Amino acid sequence: MKPWRIRDLAEGDLDQVVRIWEESRDTAADPAVSLAEVVGALRADTPAVVATVGARVVGAAVASTAQERAWVLRLAIAREWRHHGMGSALLAVLEERLSEAGVRRIGALLPEGEVGEQAFKNSGYTYRPDLSYFEKLLSPASAEATLLDQLGGAVPASGLWDGIAGMAAEKELIERRLVLPLEHPEVAEQYRLVPPRAVVLFGPPGTGKTTFARAVASRLRWPFVEVLPYHLADDGGGAADGLRRLFAQVEHLEEVVLFFDEAEEIASERQDPASQAHRVTNELLKLIPEFRRGERRLLICATNAVRSLDAAFLRPGRFDFLIPVGPPDPEARRAIWTRYIGPDRVAGLDLDALVEASDRFTPADIEYAAQTAAQTAFERHLAGDPRTDAQSPRTEDYLHAVGRTRTSLTREDILAFDHDLRAAARV
Ligand SMILES: Nc1ncnc2c1ncn2[C@@H]1O[C@H](COP(=O)(O)OP(=O)(O)OP(=O)(O)O)[C@@H](O)[C@H]1O
Ligand SMILES: [Mg+2]
Repeated sequence: MKPWRIRDLAEGDLDQVVRIWEESRDTAADPAVSLAEVVGALRADTPAVVATVGARVVGAAVASTAQERAWVLRLAIAREWRHHGMGSALLAVLEERLSEAGVRRIGALLPEGEVGEQAFKNSGYTYRPDLSYFEKLLSPASAEATLLDQLGGAVPASGLWDGIAGMAAEKELIERRLVLPLEHPEVAEQYRLVPPRAVVLFGPPGTGKTTFARAVASRLRWPFVEVLPYHLADDGGGAADGLRRLFAQVEHLEEVVLFFDEAEEIASERQDPASQAHRVTNELLKLIPEFRRGERRLLICATNAVRSLDAAFLRPGRFDFLIPVGPPDPEARRAIWTRYIGPDRVAGLDLDALVEASDRFTPADIEYAAQTAAQTAFERHLAGDPRTDAQSPRTEDYLHAVGRTRTSLTREDILAFDHDLRAAARV
């Protein structure tokens, strides 16, 4: 009987494993895989096993996988346990895990004379002196650019904030609560104000939640990464795994606004504990506290259905604020019409009539109606209609377009939003 036991790595093992790695190195040569990479891989749930004697972890082996190929990233054995066959025993169990995962070829890169060499030889690994290892270090900036590219993120154009017309109350609130504390963390600290790390924007469709989120990133000049919940499972392994992978990647970004649209898809009320949705919701609940430790990161979740979010999300400690983004009031509609018609062109128009006719319109509806009217004027121009004295659409064109635009908001939507406002808003 061997005096040790081998099992999968558990969450609480990490500190002990890192200690063994640091204490038990045999050479001064830089390993091919840095400790930070190994820890990063472990966070992303890579196959890993540990050997324990009693409660103590005395050895560990960690791999990473890509399709049929795996790499042993580290093999570590506490000094007093060298030369007992523990290395081979760890490799044997790790190989079982890899084989179950469909791996057919396992490699390892070791500096000459490093711990583990004997174990690989004893476990049937072929030494390949014919291969050379090439390495190139990308600067942190270019590594970050590559990662951002993978995530489809970028710093939005400047000026988006100023492009948001009307919505004065929302704008003021979002500026005071989010933008300013994140823009001036040193000042915030003087007043012991902790800048927000995660917020929910809620409101009916088309009211500008996505627009606000992008504009916040634009103001902060941070990259904006948008996540569509139904894409999380694209790499296989289910949405919970996708979510974990995403958060592990985001950890490497210096700064980021991480935006989840349709957050109710991943944070819905947990009903059936066996369901996929339940697993995803649980995963997100686990990931948010870790995400909150980063100082230059902001998570923004947008939803139309704040009612259906799991209550655990809405408790303080996860999200700092739940900010309503409602339908525009008449003043906001006036500003949005002006924005889409063009401030220099509204002078001859009956703006009051447009504002009144577009009750229950969202900014998106107004944008659409303005485009429709522009199309009408454009076609009239091409047709050489003699009434085309000025190129711009006239008030009737706009009113006609309004009549043809189906509003995104029903009365029920507005009632439901008013209810949410009282029940859920936390600002
Ligand atoms: N305040 C505003 N001023 C000008 N345009 C706006 C404003 N708010 C939104 N828009 C425009 O309306 C459209 C819809 O906005 P957006 O996509 O941000 O809404 P949303 O709340 O995210 O909608 P959904 O719930 O459907 O995701 C966009 O084209 C955006 O440019
Ligand atoms: Mg949106």
